[in-house]
Amino acid sequence: MASMNPSPQVVQGLVSILEQKSLARDTYLLRLEAPLIGQMIRPGQFVMLRLLGGNDPLLARPFALYDTVLDDQGRVIGIDIVYLVVGKATSRLAQLRAGDTVEIWGPLGNGFPEPAGPHVVLVAGGIGQTPFLAHVRELLGGRGYAGAAVRRRAESVRLCYGVRTQAYAAGVEQFLAAGAEVLLASNDGTIGHHGFVTDLLETLPRPDHVFGCGPEPMLRELAQIANRQRLRCHLSLETPMACGVGICYSCAVAIKTDAGWDYRRVCVDGPVFDAAQLHW
Ligand SMILES: Cc1cc2nc3c(=O)[nH]c(=O)nc-3n(C[C@H](O)[C@H](O)[C@H](O)COP(=O)(O)OP(=O)(O)OC[C@H]3O[C@@H](n4cnc5c(N)ncnc54)[C@H](O)[C@@H]3O)c2cc1C
Ligand code: FES
Repeated sequence: MASMNPSPQVVQGLVSILEQKSLARDTYLLRLEAPLIGQMIRPGQFVMLRLLGGNDPLLARPFALYDTVLDDQGRVIGIDIVYLVVGKATSRLAQLRAGDTVEIWGPLGNGFPEPAGPHVVLVAGGIGQTPFLAHVRELLGGRGYAGAAVRRRAESVRLCYGVRTQAYAAGVEQFLAAGAEVLLASNDGTIGHHGFVTDLLETLPRPDHVFGCGPEPMLRELAQIANRQRLRCHLSLETPMACGVGICYSCAVAIKTDAGWDYRRVCVDGPVFDAAQLHW
């Protein structure tokens, strides 16, 4: 990988695709040979991926770390991302194969904070489960990231995962294998609870910390539940981004401040924010 760093912490270059495989309807796992980023990245951080060979789309797209990839000796050799095909970039990405090359820069963003206590609930909607596999492994002491020692940070992790319909449920076996309890919900009742994923949270014992990722209406509802129940809650935002490194301001969100509210850039100040700080 070339090293043309826009900042000392960010690696930029061309990387090879090691594997691309289908996980669920319109949902793919992309394995990238990116050892430098893999050694530095933490759960909750993301990378920007840009397609080569044309200007359509011109801009890179952000994707969360799904997990790091280790070789037989436990050395980090790359990263996995998991993505849903929604538009131009993800449609073209789905046509790439092992040996093809993409441009990448990362690791980017702040990552998840330490949990406030031993019982953690993760709430994911749509493709919002992607930042949580590495998070589960880190919380339960399954894997270390960015050179940090492997240690158990939580006693229990429950993943509440909502999908449109059963065919979109991706990676459930991996979450179970990582030690999470998984509760599913679907819009059409084809799997799990028939209804909103946020309904599941209300059926669980009170957690010490809730983390959420998914569509904005789901995050807004989650923030309201957390506020009502006085739960510690952090949300990972999926705001569209152009540069990923704080230059273009395309990712600005409103945050409460002492003076009222102000803008923050999701790519450098987030993507993970305290739910109580977000000004919806
Ligand atoms: C920090 C971060 C991490 C992300 N991680 C993942 C991930 O792990 N897996 C994954 O599949 N996606 C992830 N996303 C979202 C992903 O970046 C978009 O789905 C992607 O940019 C779509 O590109 P596209 O060219 O295929 O679609 P486009 O052609 O750009 O858009 C297609 C349609 O989707 C809408 N759209 C595009 N992006 C978003 C968005 N972020 N929110 C709401 N609507 C949108 C557009 O308005 C349009 O209607 C993440 C986003 C952020 C900010
Ligand atoms: S994406 Fe450019 S400033 Fe955040």
